[in-house]
Amino acid sequence: MVFMQRVSMTIVFCLVTFYASSQDGADLFKRTCSPCHSIGGGRLVGPDLAGVTKKADKVWLTKFIKNSADLIKSGDPAAVAIGKEYNNLLMPPFIGSENEVSAIINFIDSKGGSAQSAAADTFLNAASVENVMRGKALFSGNLPLKNAGSSCITCHSVHDVAGIGGSLAKSLNLSYFILKGQGIKAILQSLPFPAMTNTYATHPLNDQEIYDLAAYLKNISQTMVKGQATRSTFHFLLLGIGGWCLFMLLLFGLWRLRKRLSVNHAIFARQMATEK
Ligand code: HEC
Ligand code: HEC
Repeated sequence: MVFMQRVSMTIVFCLVTFYASSQDGADLFKRTCSPCHSIGGGRLVGPDLAGVTKKADKVWLTKFIKNSADLIKSGDPAAVAIGKEYNNLLMPPFIGSENEVSAIINFIDSKGGSAQSAAADTFLNAASVENVMRGKALFSGNLPLKNAGSSCITCHSVHDVAGIGGSLAKSLNLSYFILKGQGIKAILQSLPFPAMTNTYATHPLNDQEIYDLAAYLKNISQTMVKGQATRSTFHFLLLGIGGWCLFMLLLFGLWRLRKRLSVNHAIFARQMATEK
């Protein structure tokens, strides 16, 4: 009897603490939003949320937090604009109750303040060619990940190695420009996208791997831009050479035509014939 009472007390206690903690906006924010957002600390993966409750009303915020992709698809101008600004890096939908969303919004509101511009991106300042090369090997699977997670190439492609997964996930060619070093690190640490959570939650990446991969992705974005430049110069050169050849052929053709029709040539030929 006493035992049963203890068990049911424990169950009630667990339920109450679980309920209380899930209602706690600060805690929810920390667990589900802080990998990508600060409140007053500058842009991370997503915008600084300080003051967002003054800018947008609660109905809009609730819809955006529950499923920003749906709101963007519906054509909502504010959602479309922020989606564009972040190059369609979509925030994962919040899986939770209406009360929880409300608790998070109240928490953001209670912090007040105003959004700061991005903090300086210093994470990759010390990255060397070695980090980039190791990152490339990890990305493509030539070097296995320490905790045996799948290599990134199974889902993503980049311009110097094509992904095996094709269109399973987006190409990471330009990710660095949107996310910066800090943002890539935040994503690889907190795994906010379900596909990546499933892959790495039980096979986490270590700090060194995260650093090497981030350094590689920075290099990819930078060489992507340079690559486009060299490619277009090359096309221009090809066009130039092609045009020149065409011009020469035309000239040559005209020259032959001119010679064949030339009266002098006929006279010259006759003269040559009589001289023999
Ligand atoms: C994987 C990173 C990520 C996570 C996790 C995330 N967000 Fe976002 N969030 C973004 C990005 C990126 C944008 C801007 C682009 C977009 O989604 O349209 C954004 C935009 C927003 C906006 C719109 C801001 C504005 O200025 O209009 C709000 C509000 C927001 N997030 C709240 C939240 C809340 C609350 C949570 C936690 C429940 C959360 N986000 C979790 C990445 C994230
Ligand atoms: C099982 C598939 C899978 C694997 C493996 C995987 N990812 Fe992802 N990744 C995703 C999905 C899905 C997204 C969400 C964006 C999208 O829809 O493509 C994503 C998003 C990202 C983003 C944000 C990209 C952006 O610009 O929006 C980065 C950075 C990233 N992954 C890096 C990596 C790295 C580095 C690895 C290897 C350690 C990796 N991923 C392995 C599926 C995967």
